Amino acid sequence: SQPVVVAIDGPSGSGKSSVSREVARRLGLAYLDTGAMYRAATWWCLRSEIDLADTAAVAAAVRAMPLDQGVDPSVEKLEVDGADVRADIRETWISEKVSAVATNLDVRAELRRLQREAIAGQTVPDSFSEGRGIVAEGRDITTVVAPDADVRVLLTASEEARLARRARELHGAADAAAVDATRDQVLRRDRDDSTVVEFQVAADGVVTVDSSDLDLEQTVDAVLDVVARLT
Ligand code: C5P
Repeated sequence: SQPVVVAIDGPSGSGKSSVSREVARRLGLAYLDTGAMYRAATWWCLRSEIDLADTAAVAAAVRAMPLDQGVDPSVEKLEVDGADVRADIRETWISEKVSAVATNLDVRAELRRLQREAIAGQTVPDSFSEGRGIVAEGRDITTVVAPDADVRVLLTASEEARLARRARELHGAADAAAVDATRDQVLRRDRDDSTVVEFQVAADGVVTVDSSDLDLEQTVDAVLDVVARLT
């Protein structure tokens, strides 16, 4: 069968990463988490003590970043300069700064180039998925990185559902205090990210899947239905 490219975008807390990884696993496809690339770039700049307001220095650092990212959905691998950064990049000190790096247009150009390369690499044999294709997930995959993808999905969820998910992830509970503690972080990040990418409204030809009232399993099934319908 023809290699398939599945592009999935959505805001913070929409469940994009868990859903995309599981969809890739079920279909035997590679998986690319582009948010992890922006997070790794942020980690690298902060570790290198670069002033994030110095856009030229940030762009130069990202162009020189020694990034090693796996695309096997069952074996998470993300290294920068040989250091395993998978845990660090999920921490608050990265989440709070990532938008500053991701709104740097030269950084976006560089990471988009790497993302297109990774996607193209999975549509030819001899890579991890033996050319069967890839699920790529982020904020601008359906619109900018892979607008020609066979399947394009915008994964949305109500603000309430997104805040509850993030609160559970970060604090292990979704009580009022935990939700309040995540509110600023989640909403501020979406607002900042929205200044350079549109991921709140589905572009032409992009299928919206609303996960507000679905659990992970049901959301995965909904996305698999879209894939089956379009491929
Ligand atoms: O998806 P995740 O929350 O890990 O993404 C982290 C950050 O990376 C986002 O807040 C956004 O600033 C940036 N990002 C982006 N474009 C993408 C994926 C992520 O700007 N395609």
